[in-house]
Amino acid sequence: MDAAPTGAAGTPVRIAILKEREAGETRVAATPETVRKFIALGAAVVVEAGAGVHASLRDEDYAAAGAEVLAASAAAGADIILAVRAPEPELVSGAKPGAWIVAGLEPFANRAAIDAYAAAGYEALAMEFMPRITRAQSMDILSSQSNLAGYKAVIEAAGVYGRAFPMMMTAAGTITAAKCFVMGVGVAGLQAIATARRLGAQVSATDVRSATKEQIQSLGAKPIFVESVAGIEGEGAGGYATEMSEEYQKAQAELVSTHIAKQDIVITTALIPGRAAPRLVTDAQIATMKPGSVIFDLAVAAGGNVEGSVADEVTVRHGVKIIGFANTPAHLAADASALFARNLYNFLSAFWDKASGRPVLDEEIGTAVRLTQGGKVVHPRLLEA
Ligand code: NAI
Repeated sequence: MDAAPTGAAGTPVRIAILKEREAGETRVAATPETVRKFIALGAAVVVEAGAGVHASLRDEDYAAAGAEVLAASAAAGADIILAVRAPEPELVSGAKPGAWIVAGLEPFANRAAIDAYAAAGYEALAMEFMPRITRAQSMDILSSQSNLAGYKAVIEAAGVYGRAFPMMMTAAGTITAAKCFVMGVGVAGLQAIATARRLGAQVSATDVRSATKEQIQSLGAKPIFVESVAGIEGEGAGGYATEMSEEYQKAQAELVSTHIAKQDIVITTALIPGRAAPRLVTDAQIATMKPGSVIFDLAVAAGGNVEGSVADEVTVRHGVKIIGFANTPAHLAADASALFARNLYNFLSAFWDKASGRPVLDEEIGTAVRLTQGGKVVHPRLLEA
């Protein structure tokens, strides 16, 4: 059991919503809707002025929801700080002793900040470490953001593609449907398949987890799978992919080579937790594609699935455009914020202890997400690293 700190008895728990500082980060960790709900639970909410501006949320909307809007950093005196990304340690230095920092903290990339939170006595809770269990689905920022990213990848690819997606029969002749291949069928990949289908493309998809075959078919797309290497389940802990054998990787590369040459649009989404993204598409394979084809690499920020992809740039190789965003959900700021904010609200409210007027985490989820406590880094994955 572990409770957020509170001030003097009877003082409502103070939740602070920060304005994001990271370049290109357009999201915000709370919306007027979630502010209203936190207040209904008995909390006081402070929002940094301009926090929602890129997500089309005005200061007056937060104020109307009951928040206090502050011109300075909202963290001063906070019991719980909500953010999208890891805040700079100086930014949260005025929070209460033992305050919670709840965000997508990217603990491996931000180790120095995590150490600083520990030294300051804060409890950093990494929302991306939420366990993938049924009761935590509504708290899962990776799922909510990946879903939107899968959609945006297809829309963006369609935007730079010099042809149409659907088949069109016109008086001037017929336009053939675009062929779209989705590599990696997790949350983002499933949404990419659904979006490309809605736009009228002919869709195929692949994954290393054999359980995805049926999901691909149920969305009306064609599964492209390695059948020649026996005993592949491809699934490791928590439903995530594992790194595949050399034999499998070779068979997969051959299969992809023959398939990719016929594709107009390729969306790659493959990730392996805690490792660099697997390389799925080589320059030699890109060379076999038709000029004008488009590849969207959703894994570009994790090292990329596609050779030559560069975040936030359009790279042209062999006449094929390769694109990918460093932060895809930030390109859908309003919806991404709304879902992210609900994830955080669902998390804190699920553990809200009415008697003390603050959240109290349970063992399973608390241990999974808590990085720092009592002045120390406590998460096993960080202690190992
Ligand atoms: P992810 O973002 O870690 O990876 C994306 C996809 O890439 C995965 O489907 C993975 O199998 C695939 N992949 C990895 N290496 C590959 C390779 N070499 N070639 C082709 N594909 C490759 O995955 P995501 O979207 O986070 O989902 C992982 C699993 O977790 C899924 O089974 C999903 O249904 C499950 N899940 C469960 C939740 C819950 O129960 N609360 C919530 C969200 C997802």
